[in-house]
Amino acid sequence: MNQPVMGGIATVNAPSYVKQQKLINWVTEIAALTKPERIYWCDGSQEEYDRLCAEMVAAGTLKKLNEAKRPNSYLACSDPSDVARVEDRTYICSAKQEDAGPTNNWVAPAEMRVTLNGLFDGCMRGRTMYVVPFSMGPLGSPIAHIGVELSDSPYVAVNMRIMTRMGKAVYDVLGTDGDFVPCVHTVGKPLARGEQDVPWPCNDTKYIVHYPETREIWSFGSGYGGNALLGKKCFALRIASTMGRDQGWLAEHMLILGVESPEGKKHYVAAAFPSACGKTNFAMLIPPKAFNGWKVTTIGDDIAWIKPGADGRLYAINPEAGYFGVAPGTNANSNANCMASLNANTIFTNVALTDDGDVWWEGMTKEAPAHLIDWQGKDWTPEIAKETGRKAAHPNARFTVAATQNPVIDPAWDDPAGVPISAFIFGGRRSTTVPLVTEARNWVEGVYMAATMGSETTAAAAGQQGVVRRDPFAMLPFMGYNMSDYFQHWLNIGKKVAASPAEMPKIFCVNWFRTDENGKFVWPGFGDNMRVLKWMLDRIEGNAGGSEHIFGVTPRYEDLQWEGIDFTREQFDRITSIDKAAWEAELKLHEELFDKLKYHLPSELESTKAQLEKRLAA
Ligand code: OXD
Ligand code: MN
Repeated sequence: MNQPVMGGIATVNAPSYVKQQKLINWVTEIAALTKPERIYWCDGSQEEYDRLCAEMVAAGTLKKLNEAKRPNSYLACSDPSDVARVEDRTYICSAKQEDAGPTNNWVAPAEMRVTLNGLFDGCMRGRTMYVVPFSMGPLGSPIAHIGVELSDSPYVAVNMRIMTRMGKAVYDVLGTDGDFVPCVHTVGKPLARGEQDVPWPCNDTKYIVHYPETREIWSFGSGYGGNALLGKKCFALRIASTMGRDQGWLAEHMLILGVESPEGKKHYVAAAFPSACGKTNFAMLIPPKAFNGWKVTTIGDDIAWIKPGADGRLYAINPEAGYFGVAPGTNANSNANCMASLNANTIFTNVALTDDGDVWWEGMTKEAPAHLIDWQGKDWTPEIAKETGRKAAHPNARFTVAATQNPVIDPAWDDPAGVPISAFIFGGRRSTTVPLVTEARNWVEGVYMAATMGSETTAAAAGQQGVVRRDPFAMLPFMGYNMSDYFQHWLNIGKKVAASPAEMPKIFCVNWFRTDENGKFVWPGFGDNMRVLKWMLDRIEGNAGGSEHIFGVTPRYEDLQWEGIDFTREQFDRITSIDKAAWEAELKLHEELFDKLKYHLPSELESTKAQLEKRLAA
């Protein structure tokens, strides 16, 4: 439904199935500000998806991949300046600065609105504004929430169709007075009359802005991932975390997986890792052969919404409907389920193009193809790579694929009631110090472990890579409010579960990434993480031993199942040992973190730290 220009502003003409005047008024208001040439109301149909993709192929934004090799799939290559989330341009504009806290960028809402009004004035000139209605969580579920994104990027519209429940049916849920989170997005590159567009329009000025009190999101200047697909990090984490704080639930940067023993005993666990630390791989884990009969199934790979149920247990849903995963490193050995998911109907972003019209990225195969077109459109050969170090795919290259394509999707993945969580796992990327796995002795100790988690930075965010930064709960870039208040919220949720008849979920801390003196990972990771997962389940069932140390409980060598792997006691000691000096230094870093977060820092965390220090000094 393309609408003509009327005095520089497109007419809104909402389809008859849109019944909410508040929504229509808002679209009218944003169109008046941004001045698009056309307004298009997305219905979420396959026909619409195919048409928008075909239009993007014609415009040079997408390349259609070889239909025989990868049916209905596309490659998008972004502008080299727009390849990752921009944390330094991400703002939490709460009314009070202390409610955003010291880990977030903050500008007073009124001041930010003036800045954004200036930037958004006329920012969609010459473009189509897509009205993208979406549900985070199963449509109509009491746990789900609705958003509407207005974007001038067709790439965003088609990605949102994969990543969320997007389309016409959302308006039925919304009715005449339902609530929605308004999300406004622009690539920030208006077109003058007759100006030729570029394949990936964007702007060097970027703002990713959240107003928690009014639950609004405004994003300017980027077309990439979490900066632009506003249902994901902006809504399902930053805004949802504030909803969770106010309503007594949790919005977490967590995968959710189901694991079933050969005897048919099933548990669900939720696991938080910073970006690009293997969450998608863990969510689709294939157990080693020796674990015959064990099944791991996926509820979600990135975000969990967790609410206390009537029985006191914590129930989790995946608010997303697709995966926006990191491609480099993914292969048939590391994640065969993921590779199978990507066989068709996938949008790839910033991977390389093969000469036969398929895709490739570093780590996909042992040997690279003899020739490729890299993500920047340049010729690439293994020789060129050797000489220049140039990667064929950007390290933060991504795939967007529907969850339903995952061969190990859990039967309950779409269940509006969610699944009960037996354990939480927190893991960072640490080449030293942190043991393979530690079980917290109680909820507060677990919250302490999660709060003080550190991780070496990756390419998922713009900035320096490989430096350890504190990333509490893997939520540092995704917290919508004060981090210390969030720690308190976790403690409160724990008290609520403890006061109910429900079993407390256990909390574990893991580190798959310890290296040897040559910088090589000692732990094989991937499918072998099943060995650690099984120990956790055995602990939940009260069937496994472990040895208690300063920080919690870690398995002894004999507590893990080693069948089918040659992993020595000595290697095991290397990744479970506790180096006192390293931990003394580590606790100093916890202290620095707590100093930074001292406003509202729960006293339980300070006393837990004091106990750890005492045990370390003993
Ligand atoms: C993601 C991220 O895209 O965490 O999931 O950066
Ligand atoms: Mn993530």
